[in-house]
Amino acid sequence: MRIDGRPMRAIWARADGTVGIIDQTRLPWGVETPALASLEDAARAIEVMQVRGAPLIGVTGAFGLALGLREDASDGALAAGLARLLGTRPTAVNLAWALERVRAGVAPLAPGERAAAALGIAEALAEEDVTACRAIGEHGARLIAAVAARAGGRRINILTHCNAGWLATVDWGTALAPIYMAREQGVDLHVWVDETRPRNQGAALTAFELGQEGVPHTIVVDNAGGHLMQHGQVDLCIVGADRITRLGDVANKIGTYLKALAAADNGVPFHVAAPSSTIDWRLADGVAQIPIEERSPREVTHLAGQRVAAPGSAAANYAFDVTPARLISGFITERGLCQAGAGGLASLFPEAAAA
Ligand code: MRU
Repeated sequence: MRIDGRPMRAIWARADGTVGIIDQTRLPWGVETPALASLEDAARAIEVMQVRGAPLIGVTGAFGLALGLREDASDGALAAGLARLLGTRPTAVNLAWALERVRAGVAPLAPGERAAAALGIAEALAEEDVTACRAIGEHGARLIAAVAARAGGRRINILTHCNAGWLATVDWGTALAPIYMAREQGVDLHVWVDETRPRNQGAALTAFELGQEGVPHTIVVDNAGGHLMQHGQVDLCIVGADRITRLGDVANKIGTYLKALAAADNGVPFHVAAPSSTIDWRLADGVAQIPIEERSPREVTHLAGQRVAAPGSAAANYAFDVTPARLISGFITERGLCQAGAGGLASLFPEAAAA
């Protein structure tokens, strides 16, 4: 997608052997593009959320492992690099998925061949992500067009939570890709952007992306969604995912579950857009089994470096929650739309479901 009219991706291999990223902790004020030169750079970038969003974390991890193997390609360094990167953030399964793709590709090779092979796999994963997100956009745009047709041609309102746009992937995004494509196809739409406390991915990143693409949007506080739905102001919710179990439970940014509850109470369709790299086929019960990241309480107690919470009060900072499949109207994947549940996912990905 674009920044100031210039096509950009969220991560790219640079000619000097380093890896370019957009520092997402600086958006929306500044567009800074630091270079990752080592595995440790990549691990830190994921931890401090210079890069974030499930698919982008995965691709960054793959590039990070390739950077590490350039320094030391021994079996020991491979194992240590995998452990360091896997330990950065626990919830998005795309990280483990991408690291396993690199590990499986390089482990059988002689150490001297590993770094180049890992870089090739990381670049392939980045391209695969773009292809998957473009397909999600095409399938999701048909869903949005159908909602618009039912609305009789008036402007429709779509609510999204956190940032599942191109900044969370390599390009296009998951939840936002259908929105970009539907708009290109002439659907008249407006997006309600949840600000997404405490890190404000909605206000800072989703609103930035939508603004750059000229998509009409309004930022609302996280608790406004239920009110908007009660007043007929939301035609459709689309969110992304960090991990989906084989039964269709979805971990996504904290607050997603409450939006799904409000949507169910108000008869608003609630869709989850994600590539198959986000499905964890080993897990069934999302609430019981998906690890939920807990981040620093300081993200809750402080705003722009200033404490806003009462002095001495403790804070808890759960970064994700789980929305049970029963609250989800359907999935938008690279292979098309399906119902949220074991049958729906298995019908689109029979080979993975059977493995
Ligand atoms: O903590 P973040 O910003 O990495 O959380 C991101 C989300 O929750 C996204 O909705 C999810 O990763 C999907 S991104 C296409």
